[in-house]
Amino acid sequence: MEVKDEIIFRVIETEDADWKARFASFYSGCEIKKMGRKPHTFFAAYSGDEMVGHSVIYRDKQQWIMDGLRVKPEFRERGIGKRLTEARIRYAIENGAEEIWYACEDGNMVTTCCHLRFGFEKICPDSHRCNAATAHWFRLRITPKLFKKFPSLKPLPKS
Ligand SMILES: CC(C)(COP(=O)(O)OP(=O)(O)OC[C@H]1O[C@@H](n2cnc3c(N)ncnc32)[C@H](O)[C@@H]1OP(=O)(O)O)[C@@H](O)C(=O)NCCC(=O)NCCS
Repeated sequence: MEVKDEIIFRVIETEDADWKARFASFYSGCEIKKMGRKPHTFFAAYSGDEMVGHSVIYRDKQQWIMDGLRVKPEFRERGIGKRLTEARIRYAIENGAEEIWYACEDGNMVTTCCHLRFGFEKICPDSHRCNAATAHWFRLRITPKLFKKFPSLKPLPKS
């Protein structure tokens, strides 16, 4: 029996036609970055068969960058945004990330709800001119302090 209230988190292994249709519908009306040939991994949250949250982490010039976090309005404030963020951070760490980045306007809910808690800091990289009108870049350094605060992010020892 399908438990409608249970939220299941999944890595999207295959970007098939079904997922593409759901993706287009989920982000309709949003400006969403095209991944093109950039190495990337999508993470989704499902309630039964319904996609209720979605996000991505991708690599650009050796940097790990998070993007596209969105939770369906009727599923917000249930911890889904936080879980999708934690899953992407853990994934990047497991794959060798030493820093994780994202860009966002100041005061955006994505930042306040789901990113600052992990220790992301606002920073303006050399390649970018930041001012009040631009999106800001945020960086999380992967340090022992992070694992102390969030033990669940620590990669499992390799056997
Ligand atoms: C930002 C967003 C992803 C948050 O998702 P969410 O699943 O509701 O977030 P969570 O439930 O994990 O909440 C995380 C924290 O933020 C807080 N929070 C979430 N929404 C909040 C709100 N509207 N007001 C105040 N606090 C809020 C939660 O209480 C929680 O805090 P806590 O851990 O201290 O209890 C969601 O609101 C969203 O999708 N917004 C639109 C984003 C968007 O436009 N994306 C661009 C692509 S279209």
